[in-house]
Amino acid sequence: MTHPLNQDNVDPFEIAQQAADQIRSISGIKKHDIALTLGSGWSKAADLLGETVCEIPASDIIGFSKPAVQGHVGSLRSVRLSNGKHALVIGARTHFYENHGVRAVVHSVRTAAKTGAEVMVLTNGAGGIQPQWAGGAAVLISDHINLTASSPLEGANFVDLTNLYSPRLRSIAKEVDASLEEGVYVQFRGPHYETPAEVQMAKTIGGDIVGMSTALEAIAARESGMEILGMSLITNLAAGIQKTPLSHAEVIEAGQKAEARISKLLAEIVVRF
Ligand code: HPA
Repeated sequence: MTHPLNQDNVDPFEIAQQAADQIRSISGIKKHDIALTLGSGWSKAADLLGETVCEIPASDIIGFSKPAVQGHVGSLRSVRLSNGKHALVIGARTHFYENHGVRAVVHSVRTAAKTGAEVMVLTNGAGGIQPQWAGGAAVLISDHINLTASSPLEGANFVDLTNLYSPRLRSIAKEVDASLEEGVYVQFRGPHYETPAEVQMAKTIGGDIVGMSTALEAIAARESGMEILGMSLITNLAAGIQKTPLSHAEVIEAGQKAEARISKLLAEIVVRF
């Protein structure tokens, strides 16, 4: 079955507007100022950010429901920060490798923009190419290389991607933790992990981090006019850099170990935006 966003005559921005209207009426919050997508290892940040106003199953919101097999779609949370701002916390990510199309991948970002968010925080669990990041480093994304051969933009829509990952927001993050390092995120399609040869290619072309999510979302966030902070939790060293085979279990375990530390860090950063 075709994903609702991919049906004929559907305007993805109109569906995002409808989704934002639903969030507005369910939460009673007229404008969300900041949105955060919490990837592997980051979900505790939702509890630390502030007071939860409401939590909505993502499948209740238009465009987030999956067409055929109903998996666990996750939730959307409206949180009031201690500085009085409102954050929309997106715990429901659609990955490109799920094959629902790139409109589905970026629907949450477009919805966030329509709720009024001016800042989009994109987090993920990813593989590290720099060996010093072994053991669960949090790394700021400074730029990306999109190897998915896809784009969320449709038609002749030439969007500039200079300074895509906001230097201003990165410097605020470094005020909170001066030891934060930066790296270039390389998005592969997945869901297989990269081969060691692909990791060497990523390194040669300027990459520091390998992952399967954030670049396409960041492009859509820029198109929507939001300022972007990207952060990766290095759950493992990338294939071939680490000598043992990669496993999803290892990624999950590293996320669980790092979760309290990096979630606290993120909460401290976001309240300064
Ligand atoms: N590669 C791609 N995605 C990932 C990895 C990786 O090594 N680890 C966690 N997500």
